Amino acid sequence: MERRERWHSKLGLILATAGNAVGLGNILRFPSKAALYGGGAFMVPYFIAFFLMGLPLMIIEWVIGRYAGRHGHGSMTGILGLFFNHASWARVLGSIGVAIPLLICMYYIYIESWTLGFAFLSLFGEIPTPIKSSDTQEAVKPYVNFFREYTKPSVIAYLFLILTIAINWFILQRGVRRGIEITAKIGMPAIIIFGLFLGLICLSAGNWKGLEGLKFIYNLNFSRITDPVVWIEAAGQIFFTLSLGMGAIAAYASYVYPREDVVKAGIWTAGINEFVEVVIGASIAIPAAFAMFSALAIPELAKEGTFRLGFMTMPAILMSFPFGKIIAFVWFLLLFFAALTSSLALIQPLIALFEDEMKWEHKKAVNISMILVTIGAHFSAFIPNFIDELDFWAGCFLLLFFGLIEIVVFIWVFGIDNFYKELTMNTTIKLPKFFVYIMATVSPLFIVFIIYFWIIKDFENIVFTTEPTKLFARGFILLFILFLSIIAIKSRTIIMKDIRYLKLIKK
Ligand code: ALA
Repeated sequence: MERRERWHSKLGLILATAGNAVGLGNILRFPSKAALYGGGAFMVPYFIAFFLMGLPLMIIEWVIGRYAGRHGHGSMTGILGLFFNHASWARVLGSIGVAIPLLICMYYIYIESWTLGFAFLSLFGEIPTPIKSSDTQEAVKPYVNFFREYTKPSVIAYLFLILTIAINWFILQRGVRRGIEITAKIGMPAIIIFGLFLGLICLSAGNWKGLEGLKFIYNLNFSRITDPVVWIEAAGQIFFTLSLGMGAIAAYASYVYPREDVVKAGIWTAGINEFVEVVIGASIAIPAAFAMFSALAIPELAKEGTFRLGFMTMPAILMSFPFGKIIAFVWFLLLFFAALTSSLALIQPLIALFEDEMKWEHKKAVNISMILVTIGAHFSAFIPNFIDELDFWAGCFLLLFFGLIEIVVFIWVFGIDNFYKELTMNTTIKLPKFFVYIMATVSPLFIVFIIYFWIIKDFENIVFTTEPTKLFARGFILLFILFLSIIAIKSRTIIMKDIRYLKLIKK
């Protein structure tokens, strides 16, 4: 049996978990959602969701990750099992928590490959030259066509997909310390430097007209406070951006030393993520669009989704700046680094499952995980609607559902006192017990409300479909969960044998 790896340094650990959270969600998804749901009107539920649900859940995942790591588990299969004497049903339930990040990664890595492809194509002048026009549709049109051709997918898109998978494979093969941690030590500073550089360019564009964009986001107002859709979107964004309800944070936290201050680490992770989202993420795409087009055009642009803003509108704007090719290159490279540090984190829970539960050696665990990711990524590239279905079920609905399960198990089943003991162990910030009561009551209630609103609002429209490609994607999701459930049950025997053995040598 190989010994579980540990992070090499405190800085490496913080950068790796910040890299886990900081991703396309911060730089692409956030500005699109903010623009679509009213800028400052979106930010009110967003901040409320962050404090009532995001931050508490982040700390819960850190505390439980360290606890589970001490017991040799890093995947939700093993972690949930830990609280129920490894009962099969608990391990099967935990499998959903391993399926979620993998299913997300299967489309995420494909989008990541676009960012790498577009970075190189921008640098070598292979993307369209901009048309000078104040008409948004006209200015963006060449880029819309280019994007459509590219994502058909073209041969070049396919090659970049393979390259992106190979990069992830290589890094993960090197392990937590020599792979993920080193990538984060390079990637996170690059994200911040590139982000600040682009933010400055976009805010100052058009004689600082870009600042209007920032004002649009920060003009906090309560005009849509009673609109359930805005609440659902804001809560969904908090889950996605902080990588919560995916088991990804807990998996990283399972590789800390038992003496690690997890409260501090959780606050750092959430803090860096929010800095990259509400400072850097807010200062690029929306301000750039404000500087180039009229304010009225912004929600219009966002309506067509995250990809429209990132891969069509942004190159149309950036290419029209002096040194446009370089600036567009930096934009896509920023997206690539952000996506890479997150995709590694989305795959690690499955690697942890194979290593900790099946006792496979690292190489085999990574190879099998990457083969599964590669299959899913091909479906994302070649089957229409596959990305949207996975994004909706794994990247939205299941996150909320699993977040709720985490709170119930980690606080209620574990016990408030036990959780509090873990929370205050080896930490300099002694949170008052009152905080645990908030985590135990307000946070789950908040999630229940969001799920409730969402069900009455959207469920019927979304759930019923006869579209074959959507049904295929759903069948795939179920099969994948079934596959992980079988592993959860099969590996139970191995774990129980281990536990009996440990008991025996303790005697
Ligand atoms: N948290 C990651 C992101 O924001 C998944 O992209």
